[in-house]
Amino acid sequence: MERMSDARGLVVGNWKMNLDFVEAVHLIQQIGVVLRHQPVGHTDVVVAPPFVDLRSVSSVLEADRVPVTMAAQHVNAYDAGAHTGEISLAQLTRLGVTQVIVGHSERRTLYAMSDDVVRATLLTVVRGGLRAILCVGEDLEVRNAMEHDAFVAGQLRHALEPLTPVQRSLVTIAYEPRWAIGTGRSATSDEVRAISAHVRLVATELGMEGAPLLYGGSVSPENAAELIGQGVNGFLVGGASLKADSFLAIVRAVDDCYAELR
Ligand code: PGA
Repeated sequence: MERMSDARGLVVGNWKMNLDFVEAVHLIQQIGVVLRHQPVGHTDVVVAPPFVDLRSVSSVLEADRVPVTMAAQHVNAYDAGAHTGEISLAQLTRLGVTQVIVGHSERRTLYAMSDDVVRATLLTVVRGGLRAILCVGEDLEVRNAMEHDAFVAGQLRHALEPLTPVQRSLVTIAYEPRWAIGTGRSATSDEVRAISAHVRLVATELGMEGAPLLYGGSVSPENAAELIGQGVNGFLVGGASLKADSFLAIVRAVDDCYAELR
């Protein structure tokens, strides 16, 4: 008998600095009702609420047995101590967080997160045994100069080189071109296909063949079905993750694609 593919899709909803804890509970309840009644069989669903919503969201996930796991949007690279306003990995782990987004472009550009801090943060996450979603991606200037392949390879190597093979196995790569984030202008299918192939080459050089790869940047119910066929395993979704309907439509598009692979 032919062996069925065990590959799975992945959709991560990045809520960014949106939704207070009451709104967050409402959204996760809506998502939960649908996923419990019409489960997706081949796709992992993750939400990344703001820190202050994590406790409330985890209560709903547990109480309603919602098949969704939680990511944090960021973490401090240090273990504990005098870092006013920051959050540690131990604090997140205690709340049931299993994954952390590392180096989102908004952290890099608006909050001066350097490549070195991204690297230190990534190491903290995987040392703690959690999964990391490492974000990479170029801005418009780099893209227009056609230097995106080299730029993205540089970001990946810098962040991943210090990790052991076991630590690298905990990393999901998210390619998110800055010019596509929150702009309504997603990368085209051709652009996603080309960069996916390139990222997979770099990952293979780093011993990360088969690492999960996400695309992010204006993913919507309208473009998800087409983009999922371009060499990625799923999506990191911002704006469209704030409404249950649009988020779930994207989850379904990914799941339908993986169901066909069986
Ligand atoms: P967007 O954001 O879907 O709103 O473009 C994606 C992201 O920043 O992760």
